[in-house]
Amino acid sequence: MKINFLELTKTTSDKAVVFLVGEDNKLSPEAKEIDKKANGLISKAIENSNFSGKIGKFLALNLAQGARADFAILVGIGKVKDIDDVSLEKLGGGLCAKLNNLRVKSATLAVESDKIGEIGSANAAALIANGLRLRSYNFDKYFTKKPDDEKPSLVSFSVALKNAKEAKKGYDSLSAVSDGVVFTRDLVSEPANIINPETLAEECKKLEKLGIEVEVLGEEEMYKLGFGALLGVGQGSATESQLVIMKWNGLGKKSKEAPLAFVGKGVTFDTGGISIKPSGGMEEMKWDMGGAGVVIGLMKALAGRKAKVNAVGVVGLVENMPSGTAQRPGDVVKSYSGQTIEVLNTDAEGRLVLADALWYTQKHFKPKFIVDLATLTGAIVVALGTSRAGLFSNDDKLAEQIFKTGSKIGEDVWRLPLAEVYDKQINSDIADMQNIGKDREAGSITAAQFLQRFVNNVPWAHLDIAGVAWSKKDSELAPKGGTGYGVRLLNRLVADYYETGK
Ligand code: BES
Ligand code: ZN
Ligand code: ZN
Repeated sequence: MKINFLELTKTTSDKAVVFLVGEDNKLSPEAKEIDKKANGLISKAIENSNFSGKIGKFLALNLAQGARADFAILVGIGKVKDIDDVSLEKLGGGLCAKLNNLRVKSATLAVESDKIGEIGSANAAALIANGLRLRSYNFDKYFTKKPDDEKPSLVSFSVALKNAKEAKKGYDSLSAVSDGVVFTRDLVSEPANIINPETLAEECKKLEKLGIEVEVLGEEEMYKLGFGALLGVGQGSATESQLVIMKWNGLGKKSKEAPLAFVGKGVTFDTGGISIKPSGGMEEMKWDMGGAGVVIGLMKALAGRKAKVNAVGVVGLVENMPSGTAQRPGDVVKSYSGQTIEVLNTDAEGRLVLADALWYTQKHFKPKFIVDLATLTGAIVVALGTSRAGLFSNDDKLAEQIFKTGSKIGEDVWRLPLAEVYDKQINSDIADMQNIGKDREAGSITAAQFLQRFVNNVPWAHLDIAGVAWSKKDSELAPKGGTGYGVRLLNRLVADYYETGK
């Protein structure tokens, strides 16, 4: 998608011109001019329709021949006092879908300051364009013969406003974060014959060109360290398990400041192992590396916008396969922390991977906090559905920051409890703990309790993103498929609370 910012002049012209209309239904001077040339077509259409100018409403009009454009599209922007970052991004996303439905190839949106209010027209233009870009994401690399008329039509989008330069600057800084989101979506969308632990580690390596230090531990190194929990999960796979450590030293190479740590579950395919999953829907388990995908995309975003922060991303990459070398239900493994685990169900593998990755992160980096992300349990989808991630934390302040940032950015979370009664559920008869609860109750919580046994005195939050990492239907800022949920949330958490000089 080509995105441009142009100075607003009376000569803005394109195949489609788009205008913002407030709830008062008043046309802007630009729109009025087009209306005049088209013999009042736009104002009559408003009169004869129930278009209201409410946020996200559209009215598309075919203009007469000889008019400056073929289409005029009115977009409701609602009440000035209700406009915020997310509503503008979503407006851009909705506009993208609308323009594609109309089969428009290129369009220009006029943004006039009187419609925007406090946020300012440059900011608004940047946010709308960013939303449009996120929604225009399309994972189409495997189509070899899709006809053009079935592909998205929109290839170029311009925003015309008074201060185009400022808008372009704003857009560029939002773009770095969206690049991270897009990277995550790409990784999550790739099938498991393309993305396996080794190829995913190679994708992480590509971040070196942004100034991120990338270290990869293979099976031999992890064996020496004693990563019995993570290695047990990968032992049935023909591909080697990996631990990837990505460091962004935004405060300079010499800075001694403790980093923020992000840890991701990267199961590139989860068959369930010997506790094998039913075949229906198993293909979805290609996105069981979604947590790792978010951590990788987040590192890209932070480096891309040169965030003034030290951050480390650690991802445990494994493939959970049944085979002659696979781990069996009932096996006992020794984790990197020294604690032993009875593996009663090989499909509860994510927590085993995270156990070693969390312990490693805590031990080697003594971070300010650890946030882990994982498509950890089906139970979280039962509890919260597909619009919120589950949040678990040992630290009220961190939990509150994540909750607030989620609402601000449109990636909501909901906190669930951790407590002794749940913790008892994972005591084992023959080892320090077992990897599933004694019954099926509170499955997401017992999973989180398991993780908590691998963090000590560090503020920690766990996001169970099983319901939100992938979407079966289009949403305002993402077409169906990998959502990249979490990249924008954590990037904003860093920016709003942890970046120096802000
Ligand atoms: N990757 C799955 C969780 C999952 C399920 C993610 C559905 C996305 C959609 C995880 O490894 C798993 O299989 N969890 C089990 C745990 C159970 C065996 C205690 C589950 O949720 O059923
Ligand atoms: Zn599983
Ligand atoms: Zn899994």
